[in-house]
Amino acid sequence: MNTDELGDPDARSFLVGDGDWPFNGFIVRRQAKIFAYANICPHRRHPLDLEPHAFLIDNGNLIRCTSHGALFCPETGVCLSGPCAGHRLMALSCRADPDGSIRVSAPETLRDCYLPE
Ligand code: FES
Repeated sequence: MNTDELGDPDARSFLVGDGDWPFNGFIVRRQAKIFAYANICPHRRHPLDLEPHAFLIDNGNLIRCTSHGALFCPETGVCLSGPCAGHRLMALSCRADPDGSIRVSAPETLRDCYLPE
């Protein structure tokens, strides 16, 4: 993915790997900064976007899990309100190269990154 493909604010999901457990993550661009998280809500481990790429609300100020409404800080992944308040999304190392390419370090499969209960 390239920064040219993202607005600001904007968010996009991505998959890495294949088979039964491809890794599902998402990238957030906000105020020219890039963040990446596993697409796993710490509440019930659902993907956050029931509608593809629908992560951001409030003009990009919040990430929302559409399952039960948990709200997360885009910069830290901390849940600010909802059923998992105080927990956080699994952050992924990421950067944007000078040519705009976004590089994310993600596990190969979801099986490798399930969060503790
Ligand atoms: S699964 Fe995300 S708030 Fe319940």
